[in-house]
Amino acid sequence: MTKTRPLAWHYRINRQRVSTGLLMIAGLLIAGCSGTPVNMLDARGPAAASIAELWWVMFILGAAVFLLVVGIVLAIVLKRRSQADTDTGLQRPDGRDTRWIMIGGIVMPLIVLAVVFGFTMRSMAGLSSDEGELTIEVIGRRWWWEVNYRDLGITTANQIHIPVGVPVDIVLQSGDVIHSFWVPQLHGKMDAIPGRVNRLQIQADEAGEYRGECGEFCGIQHTHMGFVVVAQSAEAFDSWVASEQQPAAQPDDLLAVRGQEVFASAGCVYCHTIRGVDFSSIDASAVDLGPDLTHFASRLTLGAGILPNNRGNLSGWIANPQHIKPGVLMPASALSGDDLQALLAYLETLH
Ligand code: CUA
Repeated sequence: MTKTRPLAWHYRINRQRVSTGLLMIAGLLIAGCSGTPVNMLDARGPAAASIAELWWVMFILGAAVFLLVVGIVLAIVLKRRSQADTDTGLQRPDGRDTRWIMIGGIVMPLIVLAVVFGFTMRSMAGLSSDEGELTIEVIGRRWWWEVNYRDLGITTANQIHIPVGVPVDIVLQSGDVIHSFWVPQLHGKMDAIPGRVNRLQIQADEAGEYRGECGEFCGIQHTHMGFVVVAQSAEAFDSWVASEQQPAAQPDDLLAVRGQEVFASAGCVYCHTIRGVDFSSIDASAVDLGPDLTHFASRLTLGAGILPNNRGNLSGWIANPQHIKPGVLMPASALSGDDLQALLAYLETLH
């Protein structure tokens, strides 16, 4: 059923990567993995604004130097051409030539580099700020993002909710290889390195969804390691927190109840946690490889941003994730049609 959809996605994503390269060369846009391209210069937070300002300073200075050099070269060529008849060949440089070399080769670069240095220092000073009002632990994994709000007792994946206008500390770690956390409209990249804790502070000036992606090659599904930062009003954020803190809802219709049994018997429980459900008959304590699914149905996407979270896509994902995202740790399932329908019904109750 979903056989053609993933291919179409791959095609679309690849096409976007190509256009991303062109746009980066143009130096104007930096594209995300899917959806509409994300413009790094369309800053929506203080850190991104500071980086965008530095980008513009460097771009304007670079463009000015380029135009100046091209202008001088053109002027010299035209002047030499008009003198061509009287020119007798190479001449020794006179005092005026030496002065040009001193100004153009030493004084000008020093001024330009000093200005860039000054702006860079200013940007860096602006980025290293005080402690944020909220701390979120983000762990890069192949190929998704684990998101923990330790102080609030919330664990989720690939979707980071933050309140608008509040500085939020992101504490970055990696569960396997080096990844890089990047939300172009909110901040620059920061690596997630195994055995190390890195920090950055994001803040969104207005409510909205901000696409993020992995900015460091981390394996074959590196381009499919997207996430979204959802910036919300204080009230909306508080209500999201209250909802996420609840244990999973107990299913009440028969199909979903059977789906919960399938979740245990088919082995899903070995990799995925659903808080509040007693799977004590199964020893699932050893492995915790996949995303926490306690409030799975409230997430926007599947497979770290590659598919919208709906029944059709979820069905295809459970049946054969390797077809949609080859190399991912989740194996294909051999569920009967009835079991799959029951499992889907159960997962849809996890709001
Ligand atoms: Cu994770 Cu690239």
